[in-house]
Amino acid sequence: MFISDNLGVNTEGNLTIGGVDTIELANEFGTPLYVMDEQVIRNSLRRFHDSMNKYYNGNGEVHYASKAFSCMEMCRIVASEGDGLDVVSIGELYTAVKAGFPMEKVGFHGNNKTDEELDFAVKVGVGHIIVDNIDELHRLEKISAEKSAQPNIMFRIKPGIDAHTHDFVKTGQIDSKFGFALETGEAFEAVKEAVNCKNVKLIGLHCHIGSQIFDIAPFEEAAKVMLGFIAKIKNELGYVIEGLNLGGGFGIKYLNEHDPKPFEVYLEKVSEVVKTECAALGIKLPKMFIEPGRSIAGPAGITLYTVGARKEIPGIRTYISVDGGMADNPRYILYGSEYDAVVANKAGEERKDRVTIAGKCCESGDLIGENMPLQYAESGDIIAVCATGAYNYSMSSNYNRLQKPAVVFVNNGKARLAVKRETLDDIIRNDI
Ligand code: LLP
Repeated sequence: MFISDNLGVNTEGNLTIGGVDTIELANEFGTPLYVMDEQVIRNSLRRFHDSMNKYYNGNGEVHYASKAFSCMEMCRIVASEGDGLDVVSIGELYTAVKAGFPMEKVGFHGNNKTDEELDFAVKVGVGHIIVDNIDELHRLEKISAEKSAQPNIMFRIKPGIDAHTHDFVKTGQIDSKFGFALETGEAFEAVKEAVNCKNVKLIGLHCHIGSQIFDIAPFEEAAKVMLGFIAKIKNELGYVIEGLNLGGGFGIKYLNEHDPKPFEVYLEKVSEVVKTECAALGIKLPKMFIEPGRSIAGPAGITLYTVGARKEIPGIRTYISVDGGMADNPRYILYGSEYDAVVANKAGEERKDRVTIAGKCCESGDLIGENMPLQYAESGDIIAVCATGAYNYSMSSNYNRLQKPAVVFVNNGKARLAVKRETLDDIIRNDI
């Protein structure tokens, strides 16, 4: 009936998440409201790290990609599971620092890190910095020399794999702004230089082929390409690359027809490929890193909205306008993403209507989705949009000077505020 098992209907006919009544949440915390189910987050992290233990002898780390959803409470949850963190800006890193996240388990990404960001990362002692380009290597060398530091680095490599996903979230192909190209020899030249650098230590190679990918084959292909490169480095330079980071990108279920493979299957298959290839190439098994973001945060979240208006345009469509939209969920306007939605106070009823859920911003494209099956919705109803835990709050904006919604975590039948709703004074806080 619902796209994930943590959603249900109670005796009042209201939608529940993690056993908590969503209408009570809307009444207590207001709407729009992001709600995250802590158990779903923890279970997903455990399934990833347990599979890493089972299929790869525990010789690896799961780094949650915090760009999917970052706040201090999320960092604390990831830390308490013993997993690592992928951060992609000084802001995400600062959030982790302030949450007391163990810095040795942090990987710092970004295709254009500023000197300020590199300086901060070296100062707080992140586990490794994933260097994207040769200019960054030079800048980092200089910054770490000034501090007499020697941070661990990985190189981000474009393995030349074309993952079958939306063009905007593909990253592994040669025409990408991310990383060093293999085909052109750029990556090998950079490795040659890095192995002689005194103020950085090259410990690994990284690739990330894209996001919301359902096939396992492109991940296997990417792993093979990367291992081939590790072997070339060993054979031609006599240098042993210790770590292999295969990125994130595992697809999730947004709609009933989506059928992502279980994480266990992904890790089993990829571990198998890595072991076989290493044996064939005569190289030692690298420590494996993965960086799932969407698959940890996405299914855990829903967004609650209040319906303001129902507008039926005969023969054309029905618009249901809600009190949020592209400012809290820009994924429809960016990628034409699709979501499943439920009228939370009529969750037990059949979804017989077909509607367009519209936001409140001054843009015709400000929609949550079109042609969505829904219970009959009218002014005052609460709508829950499902699987919004990833890339919603983290991509939210103040467009039209809207206040960013609050984030609430539910666990064991209880709700707690993790991020406060912005106030009107927050909206003008930097105005002079
Ligand atoms: N590692 C790296 C280096 C990445 O660039 C990303 C995502 C991840 C890991 C995590 O990927 P995930 O497991 O979440 O797919 N805003 C887009 C998604 C952009 C993904 C960017 N990089 C969306 O809303 O679909």
